[in-house]
Parts: sequence; C-alpha cells; structure tokens
Amino acid sequence: MIPNNETYNDKVVQQFTVMTVVWGVVGMLVGVIIAAQLYWPALNFDISFLSYGRLRPLHTNAVIFAFGGCALFATSLYVVQRTCHVRLISDKLASFVFWGWQAVIVLAAITLPLGFTQGKEYAELAWPIDILIAVVWVAYGILFFGTIVKRRVSHIYVANWFYGGFIIAVAVLHIVNSLALPTSAMHSYPIYSGVVDAMVQWWYGHNAVGFFLTAGFLGMMYYFVPSQAGRPIYSYRLSIVHFWALIAIYMWAGPHHLQYTSVPDWAQSLGMVFSLILLAPSWGGMINGMMTLSGAWHKLRTDPILKFLIVSLSFYGMSTFEGPMMSIKTVNALSHYTDWTIGHVHSGALGWVAMISIGACYMLIPRTLNLKSMFSVKWIDYHFWVHTIGVLLYAASMWISGIGQGLMSRATNPDGTLTYAFVEIVKFTYPYYFIRLLGGLLVIVGMLLMAWNVFKTFQMAKDVKPQPVLEPALAH
Ligand code: HEM
Ligand code: HEM
Repeated sequence: MIPNNETYNDKVVQQFTVMTVVWGVVGMLVGVIIAAQLYWPALNFDISFLSYGRLRPLHTNAVIFAFGGCALFATSLYVVQRTCHVRLISDKLASFVFWGWQAVIVLAAITLPLGFTQGKEYAELAWPIDILIAVVWVAYGILFFGTIVKRRVSHIYVANWFYGGFIIAVAVLHIVNSLALPTSAMHSYPIYSGVVDAMVQWWYGHNAVGFFLTAGFLGMMYYFVPSQAGRPIYSYRLSIVHFWALIAIYMWAGPHHLQYTSVPDWAQSLGMVFSLILLAPSWGGMINGMMTLSGAWHKLRTDPILKFLIVSLSFYGMSTFEGPMMSIKTVNALSHYTDWTIGHVHSGALGWVAMISIGACYMLIPRTLNLKSMFSVKWIDYHFWVHTIGVLLYAASMWISGIGQGLMSRATNPDGTLTYAFVEIVKFTYPYYFIRLLGGLLVIVGMLLMAWNVFKTFQMAKDVKPQPVLEPALAH
C-alpha cells in the first residue's frame, strides 16, 4: 500500500527540464557564432577567448553534455519514477546531481574559452573537472538504480533498460578515457600513448555517440512516443532485441573514426564490419518507434509534439543509415576531413537528439505542473516547422559541400597533378557555409520561441500541486 501523501520528486525533473532549454539556447547560439565565423573569419575580433578553436569545443560540450545531458537527466528521472511507481530514493542526492552537473557545465564554460583543454574531442575538460564528472555520475547511477531497486512493480520497463545501459556505459567510458597523470592544477598527460591513445579516445568518442547521444535518447523514445501516441509500443519483443543488439555491437565500431591511420588494418576493418551490422538494430528501433503510431497516424495532423517525436525518428533512421555507409573504407576515403561528416553529425544531433528532447520537454513540463498542455500549442507547431526547415538547410548544405570537397580534393589531371588548389575548394564551400548559417538561425529562433513558451507555462502554473504516486494497479 502506498501512503497517500507520497508524491513524485518532480522538482529535480523541472530543474533539469528548464536547464535543457537554457543550455539549448546557449549551446546552439555558440553553434551559430562559430558557423558565422566560418563565413566571416573576422568575427573572432582577434580576441583569443572568441577564437574558433576555443569556441568550437565550447559548442560541442554545451550542446552534448549541457543541453543533451540535462534532457537525459530530466527524462530518466521522470520515467524511472512513473514506471516504477515510486519516488526517487533521495531528494538530497537528486539535488546534488542537479547542482553538481550545473557546476560541471559552468566550469566548462569558463575553462574552455580560457584555452584549458586535454585536446581529446568530447573529452576536452581538464582533469579536476573530470573527477567532478565521475563523482556526479556515480551519484546519478545510485539515484537511478536505487529507485529501480525500490520499485513497486516487478517488471522493469524497457525505457529503463536503455537509460541504465547509458548510465553504466558512460561511467566506464569516461573513467577509462580520462585516466591521466596530472602535471599541474589544469594540465595532465594521458596514461596511454601513440596509437593506443587514439584507439581509447575513439572507443570513447564513438560510444559517446552510441550511449550518450543514442541509447539514452532511445530510452526517451520508448517512453514518450507510446505515451504521446496513446498506444503501446509496436513490439515489446523487438525492443528487447534492439537493446541487447545495440549494446553488444556499438562497443566495437569505434575504429571507423580512424580509417587509413596507423591503427592496425584489422582493427579498421573490424570497425567497419561492426558499423555495418549496427544498421540492423538501429533500424529495428526506428521501425518499432514509428510503427507504434500505426492506427493513430491521424494524430500527426493536430499534435505538434508527436510531429517532433516522429520526425526525430526519421532523422535517427537517416543518420544510422548514413553512418554505416560512411564507415566503409572506400566511402570514408571521400567523406573524412569533409563537411559530409558535419552534415551527418547534425542530422543526428539536431534532427534526432534535439527533436526528441524538445518533444519530450514539451510533454514533461505541463505534466509535472498538472496542466493539460503548454501555454501555446500553436507556438510548438511554429517551433516544429522552423526547426525542421533549419535542420534540412543545415544538413543538405553540408552534404553538398562535403561531397564536393571530397571529389575536388581527389581530382587529378592526366599528368598526375591535383586539379584544384586548396583555396579553390574553400571558395566552392563558401556559399554552403552561408546556407548552414541560415539553417542555424532558424533553429535558434525556434529555441527562443520554446524558451518563451516554457516561461509562460510556468507562470500559468503558480500553485503547483505535486502529483501523488499511484498504486501500480491504478496507473495507466
Ligand atoms: C543552431 C544549431 C547548431 C549550429 C548552427 C551548429 C553549428 C556547428 C558548427 C559550425 C560546427 C563546426 C563545424 C566544423 O568544424 O566544420 C559544429 C560542430 C559540432 N556540433 Fe553543432 N551546431 C548546432 C547544433 C548542434 C547540436 C544540437 C548538437 C548536438 C546535440 C551539435 C553537435 C555538434 C558536434 C558533435 C560537432 C563536432 C562535429 C565533428 O567534430 O565532426 N550541434 N556545429
Ligand atoms: C549506426 C549508427 C552510426 C554509425 C555506424 C556512424 C558512423 C559514423 C562514421 C563512419 C563517422 C565518420 C568518421 C570519420 O570519418 O571521422 C561518424 C561521425 C560522427 N557521427 Fe556517426 N554514425 C552513426 C550514428 C550516429 C548518430 C545517431 C549520431 C548523433 C546523434 C552520430 C554522431 C556522429 C558524430 C558526432 C561524428 C563526428 C565524430 C568526430 O569526428 O568528431 N552518429 N559516424
């Protein structure tokens, strides 16, 4: 029997949701600034803090770990309570996880523009911040798994499997890749050297994509898509196969980031083969999400949140088809070092990750505030359209410029000399950088619209009544 005064801890969910929007605006604004700098290089104003090399990692860290991270914390802590019919194990621990993660983000925002970096992509932060990340992450793991242990239903819903896999994998990846010998307060050397360092870094880098940018968001998909569609997941069995296949295969695909390098040839081929196999579970998951809507497709006409969720799945399908193709060595010979990679990244990041997070936030906010919907549903629809057009402009311009760059760099004259000088390739790329900038501006307009909508929704719900925890039999 649940005591009838037991409520969910929605405070921490709301805190993380609001910060998802705040860091989304900040991180994407930095993205727009660096996109503008690539078109107008003088925009760094000769100030070291504003130079492209320092702002780029600020962008990637802000969008992945601050925006994406807060969305993952918010949704996982919401989902684990609702599916286990229990309050989080500790409010103090929840509060520590929230403030600890915000501290990590603020430290990153200060140290990266100052030029402190370990020089490893997506693992740039200096060693003391790495230690703080590890501590906060372990606390998050205890909070999440502790709540699972305390659950009142015997079944563990599949969304929690994905969130759980993501939490464990990210802890292992972060700790192993960050092992270093400090030489001063902000500097260290990795314990690995040469090709081993590269292998460990891209085992981390690829699985940061696989577990941070994919597995966690699949957890989101498995809860929010059926919930918003008002239908059970298309195939529960497929979701279990999806989970185990994804977990088993992702870990081996990292070397596709190191094709044609001094990494052993067999390791490069292994990365390629596992990436190709990865297409199957990825598409299994996408189809599972999409087909959940069978019989309810008409809802897409009136429900902009569902549009966000379903279009995010189409981008997931697109980027997980493109990724395996790019891992094929002969294709990678063309795509690597070009904007094709950047197009792939953003169809995954802005299409899949951002759209599913935005859709989930629009669902979470009114639910945790006991409201029927957001302040304005029409604005959600506007947001959907500006965002979608923005992502398409971004991705399409980078695909064209990337493939053009690849083809121009390898073109040779009959006497064997290169047909194009480097500067000619840069000139060719120029208009596409402008189109990407326009795409980014549309995305940021959508995010500002969202921020205003969120603010107005919180204003509407001044007297928030906490939701009581339901008896398992009464839920659904
Ligand atoms: C307004 C939206 C955005 C704009 C204008 C933007 C712009 C950019 C630009 C200009 C770059 C550097 C490209 C280069 O070096 O050639 C970049 C890199 C990157 N961005 Fe974004 N971005 C946006 C949103 C996002 C989001 C939401 C995510 C993730 C959730 C993301 C993840 C990344 C990553 C991972 C890279 C590094 C890619 C690589 O090294 O291959 N971006 N972005
Ligand atoms: C089956 C799934 C996927 C496979 C096999 C795959 C494969 C690849 C390949 C081959 C590259 C280019 C490596 C290079 O030439 O340097 C790449 C880059 C990248 N992909 Fe994917 N991809 C997949 C899905 C995704 C998704 C869903 C996202 C985002 C949410 C994503 C984010 C990235 C990022 C951020 C990079 C750039 C890494 C860097 O160089 O900084 N990928 N991926």
